[in-house]
Amino acid sequence: MAGPAAEGTMRGGATTPLFRPGRLGGEEAGPLYLRLQSLIRAGIAEGRLRTNDALPAERELAVQLGVSRVTVRKALRGLVDEGVLRQRHGSGTYVGRPAERIRQPLSRLTSFTEDMTASGHVPGTRWLDRSSGPATAEEAELLGIAPGAAVTRLTRLRLVDGDPVAIERAIVPATAIPDAAKVGTSLYDALAGAGMQPVRAVQRLAAVSLGESEARLLEAAPGSAAVAIERIAYLPDGSVVECTRSHYRGDACDFVAELSLSPNGAGTEAGPASPTHQKSQG
Ligand code: GLP
Repeated sequence: MAGPAAEGTMRGGATTPLFRPGRLGGEEAGPLYLRLQSLIRAGIAEGRLRTNDALPAERELAVQLGVSRVTVRKALRGLVDEGVLRQRHGSGTYVGRPAERIRQPLSRLTSFTEDMTASGHVPGTRWLDRSSGPATAEEAELLGIAPGAAVTRLTRLRLVDGDPVAIERAIVPATAIPDAAKVGTSLYDALAGAGMQPVRAVQRLAAVSLGESEARLLEAAPGSAAVAIERIAYLPDGSVVECTRSHYRGDACDFVAELSLSPNGAGTEAGPASPTHQKSQG
């Protein structure tokens, strides 16, 4: 979890304070409370203030910036209403999780890096495991290879603007990625570099709740809602190039699919109807 930034100082040990006299600019920059809101938004955009960081107390902020408490209160209240900040009763004001969920298209074969970059966010990766070894029976079955054939395993915490949003466990045949250490931020970039870009994938989503270790990594409460995604991706020749199982924080993403009426009538491409559907049809 992000630590407190009570002094409004830069992360990483640098000491330029975010909140100090003169930071709000001159009168031409508009009303003071709006300027303070802009300063806080800029601090968040630049990563100087991050989700769950505590802001200095109202009184302190007023002193640091040389403005009245009324101005500070008005600015903070506006940002709380927008969801940019959160106020916890009795304990202060914190940077909220971005209200905007990250859009993940379900109808196009894109990578995490592409999705995040396309929506104006900065993707990041923290490696949890990068290894190669013989495929277990389950891995071999998922990838459609012989048990014991070499596979590369990539387990990553995926970050958006520095905040953890997903844990992804990928296995790929070692024929595609022989050396896990060669994968940088993007698995799909590494696959494309090896001439092994997937062209088709089958993806399943399910609602789950987070276990303790996953919750810790995702900075969420144990038992909180998450979306489990399994993607099996294929090369043009039909062989499997990736099997990834992911857990996304339930509050992080919007999964968006475009639906259109089939020209030949409904349901021609759908698989078997769900049990609920069958039931409702009697
Ligand atoms: C998404 C998919 C994963 C895929 C990943 C690749 O997150 N759910 O199945 O492995 O994108 O993303 P990147 O190229 O950023 O590693």
